Amino acid sequence: MNVLLTGIDGYIGSVLAPYLIKSGHQICGLDTGFYRSGWLYHDKSHTVLPKFLNKDLRKIKKNDVEGFDAVIHLAELSNDPLGQLNPEITYDINYKGSVQLARLCKSCGVKRFIYTSSCSVYGTNGDEYKTEESEPNPQSIYAECKIMVEREVSKLADDIFSPVFLRNATAYGASPKMRFDIVLNNLCGLAWCNKTIEMISNGTPWRPLVHILDICKAIKLTLEAPLENIHNEIFNVGSTRENYQIKEIADVIASVFKNCKINIGTENNDPRSYKVSFEKIKNVLPDFSCDYDLRQGAKQLHKLFNRIDLKTEEFNSNSYTRLKQIKHLIETKQVDEQLYWRQMFES
Ligand SMILES: NC(=O)c1ccc[n+]([C@@H]2O[C@H](COP(=O)([O-])OP(=O)(O)OC[C@H]3O[C@@H](n4cnc5c(N)ncnc54)[C@H](O)[C@@H]3O)[C@@H](O)[C@H]2O)c1
Repeated sequence: MNVLLTGIDGYIGSVLAPYLIKSGHQICGLDTGFYRSGWLYHDKSHTVLPKFLNKDLRKIKKNDVEGFDAVIHLAELSNDPLGQLNPEITYDINYKGSVQLARLCKSCGVKRFIYTSSCSVYGTNGDEYKTEESEPNPQSIYAECKIMVEREVSKLADDIFSPVFLRNATAYGASPKMRFDIVLNNLCGLAWCNKTIEMISNGTPWRPLVHILDICKAIKLTLEAPLENIHNEIFNVGSTRENYQIKEIADVIASVFKNCKINIGTENNDPRSYKVSFEKIKNVLPDFSCDYDLRQGAKQLHKLFNRIDLKTEEFNSNSYTRLKQIKHLIETKQVDEQLYWRQMFES
């Protein structure tokens, strides 16, 4: 299929592009490049794309999306703390930008629109396992925007336009465009660099986890599924057995990163806690199951850190923590307050 992949330069996009190309798809990338400086490593899967649009989502025009069979939309300000930095901009990019993209796709005859939503829409929900039918309870502007996009884009569905919404669990695993601001990657980085997993919170909140390659698998299967199976559907992406309390995640990591201590705090400042059921995706896409679990993910990162000899400065650098990088771009006046790139010098 001929696919436009937005957010190709990000944590998931930079793994997904070679994954889909290997499966025989033609990929054109789109990204504004907020994190273009941050490569944790390079490997054989690095892909030079025949076509790449270095463009802001908010500036996309009809001719950018014409001719594609499908659009996979990843490009957003993508996590809770980053979303809170400036809620108006988050609303502008994540909600308005995404809905505008979906409308353009429909008007240009793009048949499939795959939107990467998030299990964070479930927010805080007690002990019950949340399904796609459960009432969302978003706890951040990021999660609110996800729900608003799902609802608005869902209204566009008809005989010629099939959106599908993938609510991913919290991702983990190696990516050349690494992120250390997601729980498993962060705790593994602490275990490696500090030999201590220092937690302010008491570690009781629940999170479902999913490996980045299992997200790629879910996206590929959705891309290739008969339209009638996925048309306007929501799928939680992950595995029901991979719901953990944060302190359990820390325990498993400490057993993989030897000689690592865990210091657990006494408070719980995080209102987000949710357990999720991932049964629907297995039923509708029978080839889907997760190939990775938490322990394998921790082992993969241990191997990676060992190989590249990860240093504390690298772990703490702007490049791999989204909030730090966006703040840095604003403070150094490389982007303006609306997160558009500035011209540094007049030519
Ligand atoms: N990583 C996770 O744990 C996770 C979990 C659930 C859902 N998701 C969703 O998956 C998608 C991809 O996540 P990720 O972890 O790869 O995020 P990321 O932040 O690593 O990558 C996002 C990419 O989008 C680009 N981008 C952001 N705003 C843009 C704009 N206005 N115009 C053009 N490009 C823009 C960035 O430059 C970046 O390369 C996001 O929509 C995210 O909400 C991620």
